[in-house]
Amino acid sequence: MHFAALFSIAAAGLAAAAPFSLPNGFPNIKPGNLAHTQKTAGGTLPNTALPTDLKKDAIATLQLIAVNEIFEVSYFSTLYDNVVAGKEGYTDFGGLDKDYVVKSLAAIRAQEELHAAGANAILKSAGASTIGACNYKFPATDFKSAIALAATFTDVVLGTLSEAQQTFALDGGQAASGLVPLVGSIIAQEGEQDGAFRLIQRKTPSAAPFLTYSSGAFAFNAVAQNFLVPNSCSASSNVSEIGLPSFKLLTPTTTPQAKNMTLDYTTTYSDASAQANHIVYISGVNKPVVVPIKSVSKKGDSATFQAEFPFDAGFSNGLTLAALTTSAGPFDSAAAVADKTVAGPGLIEVN
Ligand SMILES: *[C@@H]1O[C@H](CO)[C@@H](O)[C@H](O)[C@H]1NC(C)=O
Ligand SMILES: *[C@@H]1O[C@H](CO)[C@@H](O)[C@H](O)[C@H]1NC(C)=O
Repeated sequence: MHFAALFSIAAAGLAAAAPFSLPNGFPNIKPGNLAHTQKTAGGTLPNTALPTDLKKDAIATLQLIAVNEIFEVSYFSTLYDNVVAGKEGYTDFGGLDKDYVVKSLAAIRAQEELHAAGANAILKSAGASTIGACNYKFPATDFKSAIALAATFTDVVLGTLSEAQQTFALDGGQAASGLVPLVGSIIAQEGEQDGAFRLIQRKTPSAAPFLTYSSGAFAFNAVAQNFLVPNSCSASSNVSEIGLPSFKLLTPTTTPQAKNMTLDYTTTYSDASAQANHIVYISGVNKPVVVPIKSVSKKGDSATFQAEFPFDAGFSNGLTLAALTTSAGPFDSAAAVADKTVAGPGLIEVN
């Protein structure tokens, strides 16, 4: 028997679930269904020329955008289904009509489908590997918490798209001329969504004058830790090709407030954690703030500790990212923090 045949038997034995897809064919929307998706989304895919020549960093950035957008389609699809079905927890929309909520979620899902399809179309045009779906979990239990979670991951996405623009600008060529304006348009679009999610939570629609920046490694780990079914990205999904690091979990367990305070954290312990003595915060468009950790207590494969949360030192409302690092810095970018990160991102929302 050939080795390949043995392998296929072993793979069949695992009975992996089929990756996420939608009836219209998404993530590969069938040509006959595209018009309907575009109508629901309120507009078309860009019809300007697609880049044909992109460098390595630009390709990895587009692949990460695709991973994220495909996850978002799954998220809003589940939320849409729960609302349409009137599932327990999904019947109170904080004063909004159900019809309006259903129509809005249908539009957002279709818009995310086109964001994902657009990223994959550019990858294909540039001769790079496109990204497929994995399986996703949906941790929310009701409409309100689902919207709060959507606001949080959208905050992470917005911060990461700023870095994407920087990567495309530095790559120059077709990435600079074609993709920087395109991503600017997507940032604005996701910002419209985020403002609505905040309004539904009765928060100021716009959180702060300058929103928190992020880095691809943090965005990827936020999705992987919170929403991906473990090991559900098959080799053929090409997700592993992106080559982003896998961080341990970092969870703030104290409810954060807009003031100087001490936060409790839990983290999954690793050998690397033993070398990690600092929490780094990224908030607004400010230099990352580094604080030492204290009161470390290790138990099995998890550890708890405390760190100051110096909000009054110039933090912004909305998202703050926390990372457990092996270095006290100083850091000048989210990517520099990610390079020294062992666990994270801890997602802190303050209003
Ligand atoms: C993964 O990349 C290969 C080419 O490198 C491509 O043929 C395949 O369709 C991609 N998979 C998905 C799910 O897009
Ligand atoms: C908050 O903490 C920062 C950093 O330790 C300190 O500089 C600042 O004075 C504190 N502000 C207040 C209002 O306590």
